[in-house]
Amino acid sequence: MQDQIQALSKMPLIGEAAPDFKALTTTGPLQFSEYAKDSWVVMFSHPADFTPVCTTEMSAFAVEQDWFQERGAKLIGLSIDSIHSHLAWVNNVREKTGVYMTFPIIADIDMSVSKLYGMLHPGESKTAAVRAVFIVDPKGDIRLIMYYPMNVGRNMDEIKRALIALQTSDENKCAMPVDWRPGDKAIVPPPKTLEQMDERIANTEYEKIDFYLAKKAI
Ligand code: BEZ
Repeated sequence: MQDQIQALSKMPLIGEAAPDFKALTTTGPLQFSEYAKDSWVVMFSHPADFTPVCTTEMSAFAVEQDWFQERGAKLIGLSIDSIHSHLAWVNNVREKTGVYMTFPIIADIDMSVSKLYGMLHPGESKTAAVRAVFIVDPKGDIRLIMYYPMNVGRNMDEIKRALIALQTSDENKCAMPVDWRPGDKAIVPPPKTLEQMDERIANTEYEKIDFYLAKKAI
């Protein structure tokens, strides 16, 4: 059983095309490639409906939905629960807290999407997805992956920071240093030839530690 799940649980990697799938969701049947078309997508799994940590995380996504939309990113959740369970849970959270999860949540009852995205980690659970986050770019490529265990909720600030960092990196052809936040300087790609190295050494515009570590305002 363990081998079977492991064989079926190949994890898609950063830089690969996000695997396409068809699924039943709380907003109706959905073809992922159509939903994701020309948009950033943040896809996240949670272990189970009606559980406390999951409720805090999924509510946080709902609260931040407009923030993601303003940055061109669509949300989509997933758990290995039925559509009836999803609907009852979404309604329960709305009744109890006023937070309404209107983004699609996949009812992955046959585990097909969980297996496709490597969300089943048998050492953690054989029947529930771990807390995964996949950020997919408008070309349909996976750009960032996070995995969290059952007992630790994700950090919404970090998910938002990661999305902005990816978008800013693409727009400015630069990389982001540790703890980068909007407004901070970005890393200028290091030189690849001796000529570029000499240019960098002579450059007075960048904040430089050395030729291979330079930052610029963006
Ligand atoms: C939770 O969301 O609280 C949870 C879900 C599955 C296992 C442990 C905790």
